[in-house]
Amino acid sequence: MNLIRRPRRSRQSAAIRDMVQETRLSVTDFILPVFIMEGQHTRSEVSSMPGIHRFSLDLLLEEIQECVDLGIKTFDLFPNLSEAKKDKYATESYNPDGLYLQAIRAIKDRFPDVMVMTDVAMDPYSSDGHDGIVENGKILNDPTLEVLGKMALAQAQAGANIVGPSDMMDGRVGYLRQVLDEGGFHEVAIMSYSAKYASAFYGPFRDALDSAPKFGDKKTYQMNPANSREALIEAQLDFDEGADFLMVKPALAYLDIIKLLNDNFHLPIAAYNVSGEYAMIKAAAQNGWLDGERAMMESLMSIKRAGASVILTYFAKEAARLL
Ligand code: PBG
Repeated sequence: MNLIRRPRRSRQSAAIRDMVQETRLSVTDFILPVFIMEGQHTRSEVSSMPGIHRFSLDLLLEEIQECVDLGIKTFDLFPNLSEAKKDKYATESYNPDGLYLQAIRAIKDRFPDVMVMTDVAMDPYSSDGHDGIVENGKILNDPTLEVLGKMALAQAQAGANIVGPSDMMDGRVGYLRQVLDEGGFHEVAIMSYSAKYASAFYGPFRDALDSAPKFGDKKTYQMNPANSREALIEAQLDFDEGADFLMVKPALAYLDIIKLLNDNFHLPIAAYNVSGEYAMIKAAAQNGWLDGERAMMESLMSIKRAGASVILTYFAKEAARLL
């Protein structure tokens, strides 16, 4: 055959494949989500997320040390609270002596160079298991913003570097930016969950935090998986309201949305490789149905190739070891 173009020429050896490789993962791409729990010297594995634990504060610091040694620099914290600490208005979220704010202070104290990202949403603290104040079965938007403001301000005061509003209430990014600026926290960044879909892939996370909604679902605030143009509206609002990062969540079933936002906005795009995506690969690997390490690296690579420069992933530690 007289072929002028032979793409296989560039695949013939490891050296040339390396040379033409377009996308590379780096440990600096990763943010590790971590679950914290009350108690001392204790940790418990999330049953639907093999290898992922909830840590008491002392053990959390040891875990972070291990991750720092692997090059991971940013941690996104999520609290597991007993039902007794939850109420309708998520007041525990800004209790200065509460688990979450204590954790931020402890991490920043021990690891000043580590970046602490926080979750700004009511669900782990809500007796209704929803991301907003519930009245007559409805999730209220504007009153919820006030709670988010108190929460984010308290997190910033405790030392948070990045706040992550994850509830999809309207207007939260602008509101939080204003509250943070008025509090003197111009340097605290906002990583907005811009296109967060009402997804089945959050199941294991809700196990980890015992945070499943007590009634109904989250479809009046999280997005319909069928929509992509709507993601542009959400991202535009977050951009206009001052977000520093735009996030897409989940990641793997939404690679087109990652690309869409990356093509349309000149902000760093983050993707959340969520609990269910982690659980699927782990379960298949445990059954010997696929090679877990390769499936993990291929998924992470595809998320980056689609346009995410920041990846929140429970695989961060394992992937860092391989990189
Ligand atoms: C809620 C929140 C969720 C996740 C992060 N923040 C779940 C939900 O909306 O119910 C999911 C993360 C994951 O599945 O890994 N504010």
